[in-house]
Amino acid sequence: MPLVPMKQVLDEAAKAGYGVGAYNVNNMEQIQGIMRAASETKSPVIIQASRGALKYTNMVYIKHLAAAAAEDNPGIPIVLHLDHGNGLESCKQAIALGFTSVMMDGSLKEDAKTPTTFEENVAVTKSVVEYAHKFGVTVEGELGTLGGIEDGVGSGIVKLTDPDDAVRFIELTGVDALALAIGTSHGAYKFKSEPKLALDIVNEVVKRIPSVPLVMHGSSSVPPELIAVINEYGGKLEKTMGVPIPSIQEAIKRGIRKINVDTDGRLAMTGAIRKYLSEHLDAFDPRSYFGEAREAVYQTVKSRMIAFGTAGHAGDYEPMTLEDIKKEYNK
Ligand code: G3H
Ligand code: 13P
Ligand code: ZN
Repeated sequence: MPLVPMKQVLDEAAKAGYGVGAYNVNNMEQIQGIMRAASETKSPVIIQASRGALKYTNMVYIKHLAAAAAEDNPGIPIVLHLDHGNGLESCKQAIALGFTSVMMDGSLKEDAKTPTTFEENVAVTKSVVEYAHKFGVTVEGELGTLGGIEDGVGSGIVKLTDPDDAVRFIELTGVDALALAIGTSHGAYKFKSEPKLALDIVNEVVKRIPSVPLVMHGSSSVPPELIAVINEYGGKLEKTMGVPIPSIQEAIKRGIRKINVDTDGRLAMTGAIRKYLSEHLDAFDPRSYFGEAREAVYQTVKSRMIAFGTAGHAGDYEPMTLEDIKKEYNK
């Protein structure tokens, strides 16, 4: 089946009350690991590429890897999503490549560092919605700023989302999904102790606008066992905590539908490669250690698909094409 618009995948998740993981990808092994997990658990899946991933893969490779995933897994609804677009141009570029969904992260300026005003965010997000919907492409917006800075992305300033602003933002922009800042942050170093997320914000927004699925960024759980493997085989990561799975499950109950996970896949791959190379000092065939990394991504993502309740839902609905959804937008 062709790549599916994200709006349908999230709307269906809302109807049945589960969450869908959005897993960051940069290479074939990540995509294969994620797709094996989706296929075995029968889960709809969002594969997302950041601007950094587009640069790393020279864009065209990511496009064809996603097409390969769709060809190889005809029974699985797959969304190809741009993670943290920084302006109309980056969203247009992704749409031209065949992405079925884009995030316009208007919480930050084009430098992906400086927080914007509410009005600036509305203006840029609205321009992306107007453009993307002409192609049937889904748009995710973001209001509020997360902590954490990854590869220079992020302001380092935390500003939780104000529910009143979120309602106004959805009405003014027409976004299909909205990322909220509820206390999570990007990267491996999120919390020093058990976090308390501001989940009441989710309830407030859902109560007033139940039709727009909500998104949680910075949702890696940073499992201690993954950190332990890395450190056992020569790594030096500091003790840290991510978002516990029960907190994510509670967020899903309250109305979070898209859960962004990048760091956990990175940790899983790094640990597997370190372990393999430490135990096989004579190894030099990249397939051996990349194969281990792919297996580690598969294991991690499979457990997330089960924990988020995505498993078993791939066949629940007839997937829409961009053409189908275009008609809905133009009604
Ligand atoms: O939110 C950011 C994602 O983790 C992507 O990170 O820009 O290093 O690819 P990246
Ligand atoms: P993590 O760093 O917690 O995996 O978050 C990823 C993310 O939000 C990508 O947009
Ligand atoms: Zn993010």
